[in-house]
Formats: sequence, structure tokens, C-alpha cells
Amino acid sequence: MFKSFEWSYHTDRHQYYNDFSTRNDLYAKKQNNMCGIVGYVGRRDACPILIKGLHRLEYRGYDSAGVALVNPDGRLNVFKCKGKVSDLEHFLDGKDLGGNIGIAHTRWATHGVPNDANAHPHYSESENIALIHNGIIENYRVLKDALEQNGYTFRSSTDSEVLVNLIEYVRATSGCSLPEAVRQALRQVIGAYAIAVVEKGNHDRIVAARQSSPMVVGVGDGEFFLSSDAASIIEYTEDFVYVGDGEIAVIDRNAPLKIVTLDNHDAKIDIKKLQLSISQLEKGGYPHFMLKEIYEQPRTIVDCIRGRINPDTCEVKLSGVIDHRDRFVNARRIIFVACGTSWHASLIGEHLVESICRIPVEVEYASEFRYRNPIIREDDIVVAVSQSGETADTLAAVELARKAGAFVFGICNVVGSSIARATDSGAYIHVGPEIGVASTKAFTGQVTVMAMLALAVGRERGTVTEAYYNEVSAALLHLPETMEEVLKVAPQVADLAKIFTYAHNFIYLGRGYNYPTALEGALKLKEISYIHAEGYPAAEMKHGPIALIDAEMPTVAIATPDHTYEKTASNIEEIKARGGKIIAVIARGDEQVRRSADFVIEVPVIAECLMPIVVSVPLQLLAYYIAVYKGRNVDQPRNLAKSVTVE
Ligand code: G6P
Repeated sequence: MFKSFEWSYHTDRHQYYNDFSTRNDLYAKKQNNMCGIVGYVGRRDACPILIKGLHRLEYRGYDSAGVALVNPDGRLNVFKCKGKVSDLEHFLDGKDLGGNIGIAHTRWATHGVPNDANAHPHYSESENIALIHNGIIENYRVLKDALEQNGYTFRSSTDSEVLVNLIEYVRATSGCSLPEAVRQALRQVIGAYAIAVVEKGNHDRIVAARQSSPMVVGVGDGEFFLSSDAASIIEYTEDFVYVGDGEIAVIDRNAPLKIVTLDNHDAKIDIKKLQLSISQLEKGGYPHFMLKEIYEQPRTIVDCIRGRINPDTCEVKLSGVIDHRDRFVNARRIIFVACGTSWHASLIGEHLVESICRIPVEVEYASEFRYRNPIIREDDIVVAVSQSGETADTLAAVELARKAGAFVFGICNVVGSSIARATDSGAYIHVGPEIGVASTKAFTGQVTVMAMLALAVGRERGTVTEAYYNEVSAALLHLPETMEEVLKVAPQVADLAKIFTYAHNFIYLGRGYNYPTALEGALKLKEISYIHAEGYPAAEMKHGPIALIDAEMPTVAIATPDHTYEKTASNIEEIKARGGKIIAVIARGDEQVRRSADFVIEVPVIAECLMPIVVSVPLQLLAYYIAVYKGRNVDQPRNLAKSVTVE
């Protein structure tokens, strides 16, 4: 059962420790389905608030969208269509959109193809109730059969329509209130959900509930907001109540917020303050969120290290480590679990922790880890890395690790997210909302936190020399200026991108700390340009991939100074000898690789272990410009979603 949780929202960025150090028993058993939900009840026109909220939630899915509004005279109208939120806006032109209460949804299809009928909200059979749903009702088949036997028919192939009809059925047969019907219906449901329900004739009340899918209620003055993500409604309020698993929120404009459990006990209303600026959610003059987020990196690194490195002494402090010093000092092994870009950052974390802390590290895809009966011991530390803090596989890996008794540390961006709340301790990366689906500033923030983590733990364990500790922490302090410097390559990278826009394949090579950077560079290109790209450790080329090399196969080679520089230079020669085109990322002034490469991108050089942060910038830009020249939807690439809450 849900326990309330302690959380520090770190609104004072100048406080010395801005990490999390909590443990609670709340974590999702199973997360399914992405989708974004939003709701409003108050005095204002609901529709514009809902549409704006949907735009901000589009990262959660963008294959169909819809709204349900209750007019002041009690009429319940549902408008929905296939496509993005902008398509819904066109569809709404000229419609009757009056009302100060409504719910809205943006979908990433799981049950049923993306079409108008499967879009949310779903009406109940009588059209007296409308529901939006993020999640999967696992026993929907049984429930549907029972409803069909009672005369219900269905317009869509979704599990969500089953739920709205179940609520209607309970209400009709027992004559109870809507909140009670929702409660009784949900007691019959197996699965994951965040739902919101409105009904004809009641323009004061939304009933919402959650099990394993994120949901937050924003509390205003005589008005309430509901969302899958607090950031989408941050311009209206700073006061939020996180709805817990197995809880039902009764959101009534004329009454204080009420939350009951599925067992019908009152739950505590715990209002949290969250401060984010609207400008963090807007494009701020950039053509795409991704470009804005790439350019934000000097500032996001400042936010990430603020209060954690003492500029006078170079001392690194993470409260999430200090509070659990003995666990870190005595750890026998660290296992990073993550997906996607966060997994690439974790591979860099492996190098950092092994070399600075001398603790053996494993890096696991969360999706593999959770299903292969891994050996987890009580003196292991599992580090869950997730930008969103909602990724289903990573959350499940956290749950598994906790059950096995390991200490679980989170590295998350989204404050108050499920993974942040489910871990024993952790550190936020504090890079602000990342809206572009392709992760950029979160990656550099994650690596920055991992470097600080390694230094903090390494010092406690006595495995790092004073000189190296000071060198790396000083480099971290100067990282924002270094990021400003490296961003100056943008015009040159944009020119290069023009040359390579029509390539069908790319290879990315790197070694050591920059092997994961190569993987991440390739992933960026794949995600947003749809060009096939592979990352390899440079020396592995000759064990197979070199067969692919010809004039049509460009290679991006990372050849910045490190102890394998000469070897990478030789790998570049091998490719050159086979007619391959080379784009090399090199240190400023490097003449050796410049001579063999067809094109070079020069970057400033800092401590070797931090070079992935610097090198990733031109790779982000290369992917970005190629995608732009190919006319791709950079911020919302096909088939992807920002927050993957499906297995
Ligand atoms: C999705 C996103 C990726 C992200 C991955 C892990 O696939 O499109 O950009 O790296 O999920 O997300 P997380 O929020 O756990 O870091």
C-alpha cells in the first residue's frame, strides 16, 4: 500500500546538497502504455488550457488526440481525431468548445491502431460518461465479455472503452455516485492506469485515479489541473499533489481536493512545491527543442554542478552519497541499469567508477536485466539511470534490485518521477525539462553526475589521488565554458551535414571513454534522420565491420587525445586505405589525424574522462542538421516517444 514519501524539491539551487535520499514502498509494479493526460476544472475556459497541456505532453505520444468538455448547461462533448495535437486543433475549429471543465489525451497506440475511433476520450455506451486512460487493462477481455452479455456494444478496439462502460455499468446498477462507481470498477481491474472521468450534467467534478502510471494534480486558487507530468501545467501553479498508486482523486471546483484509496480510506493530501520556469518549456526562438536543448548545455551543466563542487576547494559533495557513505565505501559491485541514451551514459559511468573508485561495474540494459534472473547481492549498489524517471523497464529493474536487498541509487532528471521516488537515494541531473525526443542535455548531465559520483566515492574509498581528483573537479567547474567553446563548431557541422545528408549508412568509431560516445552519436543519427548508423569500438572494425567500408560509407571517428590515440589514428588509416570517407573529431591543432581525415571537427580538450561530454556536442549537431536537411520531424521522430512506459 502507498506510503507517503519525503522529497526535497531543491527549489533553492544554491543549497549545498541538492540530491535525493529517500526510500519508500511506492514503485510501479508494472508500467504500460505511454500517452499523456490532462484535465482542468475552474473558472477559465478549459479548452485552451487542455490544448496547451497536450502540446507539452506530446513527447508521451502523438498518434491521436482528443478532448471532452462539459458545457455549463451540462452537455458532454467529445472531440477526437487521429494525428497530432495540431491536427486536433484544426478539427476543433468551429466546434462548441464552451466549458470550464474538461479532460484531454494524446495517444501512443498499444491496443488498436491509431484512428479516430481508438482516440481518447471514450464515451460510455449512453454517452453520459467520458474517460481518458493511460495504461493497459490486462483483464479487459473478461470484463468486455461480461459487459457484452449485459448489452454493451463497443465503438473502438481499446481496453479503455471497456473501463468507461464498466464504470457506467456499476453506476447504473448500484445507483452510486461517480467517484464510488470509479472505485468499484477499478477494484475489478487488473492492469496499469492513469484515468480521468467526467460526466454529463456535472460541470464541477473530475474523478481521476492512478495505478502504475504517472499522475499529478495541480492545485490553484479555486481551480485544479490534472496531468501526467507537472511540467505541462507549471505555468498555472507551483503546488502539486502526486496521486499515489491505488488512489482516486475527486477534483471538485467547489470543494477541497479529496483522495481516497481503492479500499475507501481517505489518503493524506500532501502538497509539494515545484518551481520551473515557463521559458524552460518553450522553444525560445530556436526552430526545434532539440537545437535549443543542445545550446542550453553550458547552462544545464552549471545547474548540474551547482552546490555540488566547492569552487574554492574543488571538493565534490553529493548528499545522496554522503547519507549512505558506508554503502558506497563497502560496495562489492555497482550495476548500472538503464535504456537508450541513459544506457550509453552508464557505459561512461562504468569507466569512471572503475578507474576512480576501483569498484567492479556492470552495465545492463534494464529490459534484459529484469528478465534474466540476475545475481544481485546485498552489498551491490544498483544505479538506475533515467532522464524521465518513468521508463518501465528501468523501474522494473529497480524493483527487482530492491527485492534482492541491493541499495538502489537513482540518477534522474524529472523531479518526483517514479524512479526517483522508488530508489533509496540519488542525484538529480537538474538539466530542466527535455522536450526533444532525442536526448541531448540529459546525456551530458548524466555523465556529469556520474563523474561527480565517481569522485565523491573515490575520495571516500581512498582510491583516487589528490592530483587527479583536483584535475577532474576543476575541469568540471570549467565545463560550462568548454561547452560554450565547443558549440562554436555548429556552423561548420551544419556545412558538413549538407555534404552527408544523402548517405544511407554511417559508422561511428571511438575507443575508451569515447566508445560509448560513438554509440550515442550513432543513436542520435538513427533516431532523428532515420539513417542507419552503427557505433563500434575502433579496434573492432577489423573483425567484421571493415567489410562495409567503401566510398558510400562515411565514418565518424573520434580521435581526441587519450592513451589509445595512436591506435585510433591507425584504425582511421585502415579505413582510408579502403576508400572510406572520414569525418574525424580531433583536438584543436592536431595535425596527424587531420592529414588522413577528409573532414575534421576540432574540439577543445579537457580531462580525458570528461571528453565524452564535449565530443557529444558536435555529434548531436551533426545528427540534428542532417535530420533538418532531410526534412524530418526532429522533435517528434516517427515511432518514438520520449518516455517509454511500455515494456
Ligand atoms: C526512449 C527515449 C530515449 C531515452 C530512452 C530511455 O527510448 O526516446 O531518448 O534514452 O527512452 O529513457 P529514460 O527516460 O529512462 O532516460
